Amino acid sequence: EGDVYKYYADGEWKKSSSGKSVAIINPTTRKTQYKVQACSQEEVNKVMNSAKSAQKLWAKTPLWKRAELLHKAAAILKEHKAPIAECLVKEIAKPAKDAVTEVVRSGDLISYCAEEGVRVLGEGKFLVSDSFPGNERTKYCLTSKIPLGVILAIPPFNYPVNLAVSKIAPALIAGNSIVLKPPTQGAVSALHMVHCFHLAGFPKGLISCVTGKGSEIGDFLTMHPGVNCISFTGGDTGIAISKKANMVPLQMELGGKDACIVLEDADLDLVAANIIKGGFSYSGQRCTAVKVVLVMESVADALVEKVNAKVAKLSVGPPENDSDITPVVSESSANFIEGLVLDAKQKGATFCQEYKREGNLIWPLLLDNVRPDMRIAWEEPFGPVLPVIRINSVEEGINHCNASNFGLQGCVFTKDVNKAMLISDAMETGTVQINSAPARGPDHFPFQGIKDSGIGSQGITNSINMMTKVKTTVINLP
Ligand code: G3H
Repeated sequence: EGDVYKYYADGEWKKSSSGKSVAIINPTTRKTQYKVQACSQEEVNKVMNSAKSAQKLWAKTPLWKRAELLHKAAAILKEHKAPIAECLVKEIAKPAKDAVTEVVRSGDLISYCAEEGVRVLGEGKFLVSDSFPGNERTKYCLTSKIPLGVILAIPPFNYPVNLAVSKIAPALIAGNSIVLKPPTQGAVSALHMVHCFHLAGFPKGLISCVTGKGSEIGDFLTMHPGVNCISFTGGDTGIAISKKANMVPLQMELGGKDACIVLEDADLDLVAANIIKGGFSYSGQRCTAVKVVLVMESVADALVEKVNAKVAKLSVGPPENDSDITPVVSESSANFIEGLVLDAKQKGATFCQEYKREGNLIWPLLLDNVRPDMRIAWEEPFGPVLPVIRINSVEEGINHCNASNFGLQGCVFTKDVNKAMLISDAMETGTVQINSAPARGPDHFPFQGIKDSGIGSQGITNSINMMTKVKTTVINLP
């Protein structure tokens, strides 16, 4: 048991008194790669208490000092990019180069957040009373933004570092404390990232990281009375959390079925390149991946041919080799993807490549002539399998997009910017990209989903604002 990674509480690395651990399976070898502590509910209670008291002092720490510490953490994180990226490769099979990019992007996010925070939080409002009918100028109202308290951050497996710091940094700059519950796959990468905050010298108890089984501490954390805000990224669990949570602000991003609408006048080489990047990077395990192509029939053959030529060039193999397509995160995920593929086969989709799977590794697959009765037309595979639906009008494409339960992002390819704007307005998604694949970044852009894709808006500025509350003081003149 000596090689079980410790959890982080009160500025120290600790063993759980439960004596239990959780295994992290390497998606490539399918063997146990690491073990983390299975924290108990009692340990969660302690962490919540420390987070509460540490937050009170932190809220009084000058904004510029909070920013200074965040800049320090960002620099340390970047210095540690190699070992953290190595964890990402082993825990979630992220291709080696993308793993490094995730860490560097995270450092940049923290620094940007520190800078944005001192500006956004450095100003308030001043109102006078006599603009409202019946009032004299006898009241002056001063507003400022105050922290919410303890923020519970729950990031997903696909960005255990980046989608953790996208919650941690705004929370801290705004004067909150953080309790982080990392995903099991990705927990060691997250612990290593937390170590960088530890080295930067944040006060004890301000940041904690508890690991463990969702069944043991999941609901206990999200329903805990000590939590003042939940920032969650992941799957359906988010919907369950939103039903059980206390009356606290929720920020959630829960996946998508991002459509790529291709018009007749689109630059098909550009579309094909974006379908490859959007549909297959990190083997399709991104909430913003292109998850359905809706292409006008007249250009469908040409587009499918171009995409197929590029699919043939994708390298398939282990993440250590920086392969384009790497094993998906777990066996159950691979089985789920396979279920969607077999359903499409049975219902008559055209397989542009042969379906091939070894363990958790699934070869990239484009499915043409997908129809609405197939599960893959609506469900999110979170794998390297992409359906193409041929459409005869733009309206048909928009209707398919809007009939989805999801509404994260979408994209439209056309040279006619006026048409693109009208289509963007008609698509019920949080963001529409014109002539590019969906993506969350740059990380200061607003990022939000509608319907089952989430609530609230992220992006650096929105997250800072979301993790604060407006406080007003009114001066009453005689
Ligand atoms: O998986 C969900 C992420 O928020 C998507 O981020 O667009 O940078 O891959 P990304």
